[in-house]
Amino acid sequence: MSTGSRYTGLIEHYRDHLPVSDDTRVISLGEGNTPLIRLENIPSEIGRDVDLYIKYEGLNPTGSFKDRGMTMAVTRAVEEGSRAVLCASTGNTSAAAAAYAARAGITAFVLIPEGKIALGKLAQAMIHGAVVIQIRGNFDDGMRLVKEVAEHAPVIIVNSINPYRLQGQKTAAFEIVDELGQPPDFHCLPVGNAGNITAHWIGYSEYAGMSTQACAFCGGDCKHPCTAVSDKRPVMVGYQAAGAAPFMRGAMVDHPDTVATAIRIGHPQSWDQAWKVREESGGWFDECTDEEILAAQKLLTSREGIFCEPASATSVAGALRDIRAGKIPEGSRVVCTLTGHGLKDPDTAIKQCEGDMLTVDAELDAVKHVILDHLA
Ligand code: F0G
Repeated sequence: MSTGSRYTGLIEHYRDHLPVSDDTRVISLGEGNTPLIRLENIPSEIGRDVDLYIKYEGLNPTGSFKDRGMTMAVTRAVEEGSRAVLCASTGNTSAAAAAYAARAGITAFVLIPEGKIALGKLAQAMIHGAVVIQIRGNFDDGMRLVKEVAEHAPVIIVNSINPYRLQGQKTAAFEIVDELGQPPDFHCLPVGNAGNITAHWIGYSEYAGMSTQACAFCGGDCKHPCTAVSDKRPVMVGYQAAGAAPFMRGAMVDHPDTVATAIRIGHPQSWDQAWKVREESGGWFDECTDEEILAAQKLLTSREGIFCEPASATSVAGALRDIRAGKIPEGSRVVCTLTGHGLKDPDTAIKQCEGDMLTVDAELDAVKHVILDHLA
C-alpha cells in the first residue's frame, strides 16, 4: 500500500541506507525530518558573517535525537525476537527506550543515576511504563552494570554500543546534506558518550562516498541531490562540559559533574571512534563552563525562540566562542545540533529566570502599569 507523501519515519525514508529488509516490522513514531533553522539574530549580534544553522533534534517524538537510534535498535531487537531492552541513561535514552518499547509491546529496563536526571525525562520513562531502576552511582556505573547484567538476562542493550543505534543516528547527517545540497563546513555537537558525533561522521562519510556513484535511491532519476551529494565532509567539532570533559583531559574522568546532566559522563563508550572522527575530519574538542552553557541556552531562547536543554546548548556555546575567535572563519556554513528539547529540564530553565516574574493584584491598573512601564 502506498503511503503517499506522508512522512513515516527515518527507516522508511532512508531504507536503502539502513539494515532492514522488506519483511522487517518497523517500530517508528515518525522520528527524524527535524527542522534545520537558520539563525537570524545571533550572528549579527556577535558581529560575524557566518551562515549558522540549528538542527533542532529536540523536535523528535520523545524530544531528543535518541529517537533516531532507538527506532533502529528496537526494530532490530523485535526482529531478533527479544522481549526486553535495557539501557543506562542520563535521561534521554531512557525516555526513548521506554517509548519505543511501549510501541513495540516489549519491556524497557532503564538504569538512571539517582537524583541526576531532569524531571521531564524521568516523567517520560515512568509514564511509558519502563521499569525504572535508580542506582546510587553515575551514568558510567550504570553503563558498567548494563554490560554485566546483559550477560545474565535475556535483554538487548540499546545504549549506543548497540551498533544499530548509530545506524539510525547517522540519518541526521543525511537530512542536513539533503536539505543544504552539500555538507556544512563545520558541524558542532555536544559530546557525552560520543556516539552521536561518531554516527554523524558515518552518515557524512557514506554520503560523500556516493558522490561518484549513481544515486543509491533511484540510480539517478530522482529529485534527490544525487550529483550534489558532496565529495567533501565537514570539520567535526565536539564540545564537552568542563566538569565532564575526558576528551580535553585525554583520559577518563571519574567524578564528572555539570549542570548539563545529559552529558555528565566521564567514561565515553565511543572513545576511540570519536578520536578517529576528530583526526579524519580535521576537527577538535573543546570544553564549555556551566555558565557558558546556560548563557547560550538563554541566548537561543531569548534571541531566536529556540528552547533546548542545557547539554544541547553546549554546541552553540562552543561554536560562538570559536566563531568569535576566528577559529571558525567568517564565511563558513556551520551546523550546531541541539540534541534535546528545553522542556526536558524545566527546573534548570526556571532557575535561570528567577526574579523575572512579577506578581500583581488582579486589577486593570496593576497590569496596565506593568505593560506601559515595560514599553516606556
Ligand atoms: N545531548 C543530549 C541532550 C543527550 O541526552 C546526550 C546523551 C548527548 C547530548 C551526548 O550524546 O552521548 O552521543 O555523545 N545522552 C545519553 C542518555 C547519554 O543517556 O540520554 P553522545
